[in-house]
Amino acid sequence: MWPKTLFLLIVFNLTYARYTQKRSIDLIAAHGLITDTKLPQDLIPHEYLIQIHPLPEGVFNGKVSINFTVQQHTDTVALHFHPDMELLESSVRQFTRSDEEIKTKVPIETFPKSLIIKDVEKEKKKPVISFILKEAIKEGAMFEITLIYKGKIFNDTSEGLFKSTYVDPQTTETKWFVATHFRPNLARNVFPCFDEPGYKTPMVIKIGRHKNMTATSNMPLLHTEPMENMNDWVWDTFEKSPPMATFSVGFVISEFSQIKNSKVLKDNHTLTGYNIDMDVWARPNFINALVNVSSKVNQSIHILEDFWARRYPLPKLDIFALPNYQATRPADSWGILLFKESELSGKGSWHITQELVYQWLGALATPFWWSDAHINNALVRYVTAYTTLKMEENETFNNWPMTMLYSIYYEFSKRYPHGKSTAIKQDSTSAKTELIFRMLNYTLGEKTLKKGLQRFMADREFKTFFGDDIWNSITEQARIDKTLDEKISVNEIAGSWITKDRLPVVTVTRDYKKNSAKLTQRVYLRERPHDVPDQEKFVWWIPIVLVKQTNLNFQNCTPTVWMKREKEIKIENLPEKDKFIIVNPEEIGPFPVNYDVDNWNMLSKFLCTDNRKKIPVNTRAKLLHDAWNLAYAGDLSFATALNMTLFLKYEREYLAWDPVFTLIDHIGRHIDSSAVHKKFQSYVRILLTPLYEELGNDPQEGESEGRAHLRSSSKVFLCQAGYKPCIKEAQEAFKKWMEIDNPDEGNPVANQYICPVFKWGTQEEWEFGLQRVIQFPPGRKQNERTYLLKTLAGCPNDASKIERLLNITVLEKNGNFTDTDVYLIFSMLTGGANGYTTLFNFLKKNWDEIKLRLEDRPHLWNSLITSATSVFKTQEGLDMVSELYVQRQSEFGTADFVIEKSLKNIKEETKWSNDNLPIIEKWLDNYLAVNDVQTTTKI
Ligand SMILES: *[C@@H]1O[C@H](CO)[C@@H](O)[C@H](O)[C@H]1NC(C)=O
Ligand SMILES: *[C@@H]1O[C@H](CO)[C@@H](O)[C@H](O)[C@H]1NC(C)=O
Ligand SMILES: *[C@@H]1O[C@H](CO)[C@@H](O)[C@H](O)[C@H]1NC(C)=O
Ligand SMILES: *[C@@H]1O[C@H](CO)[C@@H](O)[C@H](O)[C@H]1NC(C)=O
Ligand SMILES: *[C@@H]1O[C@H](CO)[C@@H](O)[C@H](O)[C@H]1NC(C)=O
Ligand SMILES: *[C@@H]1O[C@H](CO)[C@@H](O)[C@H](O)[C@H]1NC(C)=O
Repeated sequence: MWPKTLFLLIVFNLTYARYTQKRSIDLIAAHGLITDTKLPQDLIPHEYLIQIHPLPEGVFNGKVSINFTVQQHTDTVALHFHPDMELLESSVRQFTRSDEEIKTKVPIETFPKSLIIKDVEKEKKKPVISFILKEAIKEGAMFEITLIYKGKIFNDTSEGLFKSTYVDPQTTETKWFVATHFRPNLARNVFPCFDEPGYKTPMVIKIGRHKNMTATSNMPLLHTEPMENMNDWVWDTFEKSPPMATFSVGFVISEFSQIKNSKVLKDNHTLTGYNIDMDVWARPNFINALVNVSSKVNQSIHILEDFWARRYPLPKLDIFALPNYQATRPADSWGILLFKESELSGKGSWHITQELVYQWLGALATPFWWSDAHINNALVRYVTAYTTLKMEENETFNNWPMTMLYSIYYEFSKRYPHGKSTAIKQDSTSAKTELIFRMLNYTLGEKTLKKGLQRFMADREFKTFFGDDIWNSITEQARIDKTLDEKISVNEIAGSWITKDRLPVVTVTRDYKKNSAKLTQRVYLRERPHDVPDQEKFVWWIPIVLVKQTNLNFQNCTPTVWMKREKEIKIENLPEKDKFIIVNPEEIGPFPVNYDVDNWNMLSKFLCTDNRKKIPVNTRAKLLHDAWNLAYAGDLSFATALNMTLFLKYEREYLAWDPVFTLIDHIGRHIDSSAVHKKFQSYVRILLTPLYEELGNDPQEGESEGRAHLRSSSKVFLCQAGYKPCIKEAQEAFKKWMEIDNPDEGNPVANQYICPVFKWGTQEEWEFGLQRVIQFPPGRKQNERTYLLKTLAGCPNDASKIERLLNITVLEKNGNFTDTDVYLIFSMLTGGANGYTTLFNFLKKNWDEIKLRLEDRPHLWNSLITSATSVFKTQEGLDMVSELYVQRQSEFGTADFVIEKSLKNIKEETKWSNDNLPIIEKWLDNYLAVNDVQTTTKI
């Protein structure tokens, strides 16, 4: 539910969306590919000669020869071949004798010999072509198949072989270029091949180009020769590559400018002291924006070579900034990287590093099949983080890994993790595996993990691998380093984490008389209901790293003990009863930890003292994060959890504040239909006002990203809680818009101001916003309109604004609003009690009319019923929805199942509210009394 309702977080994440999840696209593709058409396994390719000649008219000529041997006799040579390509000629020759021909003494002189192709078969809609031979080919012999064909160059995507243009400002000529992007399985669109990652072979690539242009490919240029029958055109032949996968093949033909950087390494190289040619390319007008790229790449490659204890695997690397590059991710062919212009010229380096990491993981060592792509991806992410952290000493790489960690905590603790979304599933699974590498780094030691991965790479370079190869190599290294018990294997540990869509929670219950503690593990569930089937069967290998108040050493990350898939263990030798302990500091393993109340209280007290800083900031954040999430899940008293926020009065490091904003959002929304909500808003204002005032309204020169983030978040949440200065500022900004002559030409108000105005401002201001949506000119960017509409629906505090919007869009059938708009409005209204209660009342009041309106649109009807009924959280809501259900029982139609599910959810949530609201209220009363604030005056 939260992706659509978490409106405020979406808004404020926009200010902080650095670490985008773009790789998920890649993974969905990989996921789909697990069932890609596989070729029969009876032939093994050994080498390719690929000749491609792209023409300016948007077509290309191709000729490919592939040498292969026979594993199992067959009369069919099957290759991947895109059905849109046109085959012109084909031939098969046999070069050496088969085992049988050697036995029967067939004379060597008869070879090479041409074989007769009886038939060529293309299956409809399948990217496979089969050559049926007159006679079967036998084991042991070597053959060559040669195909001549034609194909089209794409001009509307950045996939396969594609062409694009740009205008040279000096000559105003339109220039064209072509480039390739074959991941994950598009090589077959350009040349017939064994298009599976498991087949890696050396390749010789020949590219035909106009003599004005330059061609680059995976390897350095070997020689250039004129093209027969075509003046001004030449063939470039490139050196033979090491064994590589078809998706690693790449080339670019352009008239770009180049920053040459042949002496990459100014100092002596860490490993072998060699140089590579590493050039940066872009259209002439853009190249100056890329002056810093080389040094980033050099630095990154240095760190990576050291990490893998292997040099960069090719003699050259070309990095391109492509105009109009449309793919969501850069293209990482081996030795050629293609980026969007803006991405390459931007600040920061992690996205360059990420593509460089793929040069080792993916290109040098390649997953055998797509089912192993996810572990490759996770390891790429880990190595990218490792490298980025080493490079940007002042940066925290988007608070790695906390931001990601929190989001997987939320995802895996849902009743149904990932919903139905493959994209979310793939991404959170990858993130989890990435965190397992991090956990192994801490528990086995950086040296063991690094050496283990080096061992893996030494074994699998130029070859393919399975996921288990990685874990096996780490296990071997851990045995040598004696960092892991003989009886334990890393495969087992990792397997217990990556095979489940769940995470554990560890509960620590101390026995203060015996200085011992009982530790239990079970599935971590946060959203209700908690009735996950078979949950008692889930067990993990969990490292128990322990820090005691008597010795606050956060450097030693060796586990005191592993929970070896045991549900319960006991640990001894804990400190006296007035000293706390911390389990799993620094989020070493991806799991929350609960304690007994006494231990929580000792932690809370300690955090309020100046000694707080003896606990590193990520651990302070974890304690706070775990406490409120466990309370939210119903596993800890809210009084205890809210006590863990008291230290924030003194806390100024933004990493520690990070979990607070989600707390305010989640808890705030959960209680916003009750009287406690006003008190909660006062609490939020008391919490955030001193922080915000200290940070100041305006950014300081050279301030860190973290500080800027903290300012903008605290502002968003203060405004939401009705902080007066903020509302005033927002209204002043908004006024400028209301006063200009042509308000529909553009919006001069920063997005952050719009929601506070619609929430706390006047009817007139809101109405002005509504008119802007209605009169929105079609020529302007539609996402601005969408944003306005979202805020018009999602922000208001009073029902009359929402009713007006619903009247116009649902009842009056105003032609300015599409069905998509109405969906959006419904889903925005689930974000707050005011929204969904108004929607419910609107539905109840206008039932017959609405039903008639939406008769032919069952999806919209279902969406309305969902939004209007599913998110109530109190007894009052339950009564309202139950009453409607009884009254209209036979009339819900397609939404029957929706309302039944809603009632079940509301019952769960009502129980939560009954259990927790009194405790929260009591705590807030006490807090507000101490802080001497009357709950109403400030609003
Ligand atoms: C295949 O092998 C033959 C004989 O060794 C050789 O002449 C030919 O160039 C090879 N073809 C390719 C595509 O490597
Ligand atoms: C793309 O190719 C199509 C057909 O080959 C052509 O009609 C169209 O004009 C091309 N578009 C561009 C932008 O070159
Ligand atoms: C090659 O260069 C010549 C002279 O600069 C120019 O007239 C011609 O259009 C160019 N051809 C291509 C294909 O760029
Ligand atoms: C680099 O290596 C060369 C030759 O091996 C050596 O003469 C030179 O002193 C080294 N430079 C540095 C900075 O280590
Ligand atoms: C790996 O662990 C070491 C401590 O053993 C730590 O200093 C380092 O930051 C960790 N690296 C990553 C990428 O987490
Ligand atoms: C890190 O910060 C220091 C001091 O603020 C600065 O001199 C240095 O250039 C920064 N380094 C990077 C990589 O930004």
